[in-house]
Amino acid sequence: MRTVFWDYDRDVMKMIDQRLLPFELVVPEYETYQAVAEGIRDMVVRGAPAIGAAAGFGMALAARQSAAADRLGLLRDLEAAGQYLEAARPTAVNLAWGVRRLLRVAAGEELETADEVRDALLVEAQRLADEDVALNRRMGYNGAELISDGDTILHHCNTGALATVDWGTALGVVFAAHEQGKRIHVLVDETRPRLQGARLTAWELQQRGISFDLIADNAAGHFMRAGEVNIVLVGSDRTAANGDVANKIGTYQLGVLAKENGVPFYPVVPTSTIDLDLPTGDLIPIEERDMDEVLIVGAQPIAPTGITARNPAFDVTPHRYVTGIVTEAGIVYPPFVKNLRAAVAAAKAIDWDDEIGVE
Ligand code: MRU
Repeated sequence: MRTVFWDYDRDVMKMIDQRLLPFELVVPEYETYQAVAEGIRDMVVRGAPAIGAAAGFGMALAARQSAAADRLGLLRDLEAAGQYLEAARPTAVNLAWGVRRLLRVAAGEELETADEVRDALLVEAQRLADEDVALNRRMGYNGAELISDGDTILHHCNTGALATVDWGTALGVVFAAHEQGKRIHVLVDETRPRLQGARLTAWELQQRGISFDLIADNAAGHFMRAGEVNIVLVGSDRTAANGDVANKIGTYQLGVLAKENGVPFYPVVPTSTIDLDLPTGDLIPIEERDMDEVLIVGAQPIAPTGITARNPAFDVTPHRYVTGIVTEAGIVYPPFVKNLRAAVAAAKAIDWDDEIGVE
């Protein structure tokens, strides 16, 4: 099952509610873009590419919700819906990328009526989702070249099928290496405070029968120093033009520890996550979430009442800690300023019709 999809029988969007995993698999229906935005904010759906796909289908819903009879009125409603969706979470650039991709299609001169725009948006949202799956597989096999038989991989957060439409980014590399028959082991950071590693990555690895151990986030340095880690693989919510990588909080310390211990550190990043408009990672907006996510685990308070906490959801790993960046267009090495731009261009040149099987 895909993480985010359109149910053509019921003519609604559906998303797996990731807040309930691994204990319950619930797939609610979404009929409005406002509800989709709320689902993104509350992390029903999370992971940069999955958020991008949700934004795409959210825009298709917005087009259906709009009562506009003419094309220009519909475009105005779509602009407003796009701004509402983009405000849901600030760090993952795929959200804005998904919205803008749909807005570009909506503005197409060849679409004459509002209904033609409505139809075209659902087609484009579906295409965006299908491309995500195809490019993740490609990226996974590109990255699997880095993995040798017997390797132990350290992984942070959840970057698997759940973080994308299907397959995954960094975890997609793990899946590809496993499919190639390599005997691998994964050390899974639990990823406080939302526990995406413990709840979601552990669930996905267990389902695929891949060997792993769950570790407390603060055990990662110990395992690297002990020589038990061959490679660190992480995802990214936004990668700046110079190769600075924003990802789940805790990634920066992994990058520093990896360099200190001579362990290669590779973010696995679809080119949709590369923001060439931002020269450095210092300009990436970092989402700060509710302090209760730190103070309460499940329903259980874990600290004295009345205290405050800080809860940045992401951090930026400067490119000097990044060995290379795996993309659907290949593995990119320094100098990132030049080579990331080339990778974005190369990804655009891929024949996605062929990859997703469109006639
Ligand atoms: O807060 P989340 O769970 O949306 O954060 C997800 C991550 O940090 C992932 O590593 C990232 O989105 C890239 S992988 C698909």
